[in-house]
Amino acid sequence: MKYEVTPDLITGHDMIDREHRQLFDAVNQLLDSFSDNKKAGKEQVNHAAAFLTSYVDKHFAHEEELQKKSGWREFETHHKFHEEYKRQLKEILDRIPEEGPGIQNMSEINVHVVRLITHIRTMDKRLGVFLKTVE
Ligand SMILES: [Fe+2]
Repeated sequence: MKYEVTPDLITGHDMIDREHRQLFDAVNQLLDSFSDNKKAGKEQVNHAAAFLTSYVDKHFAHEEELQKKSGWREFETHHKFHEEYKRQLKEILDRIPEEGPGIQNMSEINVHVVRLITHIRTMDKRLGVFLKTVE
């Protein structure tokens, strides 16, 4: 199964939607690296995990910049969600054992991505609607 930006997740803001696609690509790559792990080793997993972490940081920062510039009233709650999300992502990735990821790691990531999907469907979409009125 691959994560993708389905029509119900489109925020209407081009940059945000583009970055969400790339973010899902990064998640898919990480999950792929889990199943490739036996062949490719931990290096590929580490690489995909580092890329996802840095991409999430970058994307959340971009979204927050847009919110600050436009004076979005939900900035504080949105920012809180982002911070908590990054913290949990780090925790989950840090739990991947040296000998490679297992089913538990995989399921934690899936649960975490579902939380992001809910976030996109609610907070990010509200932001997208708002940005259309000010840009
Ligand atoms: Fe967001």
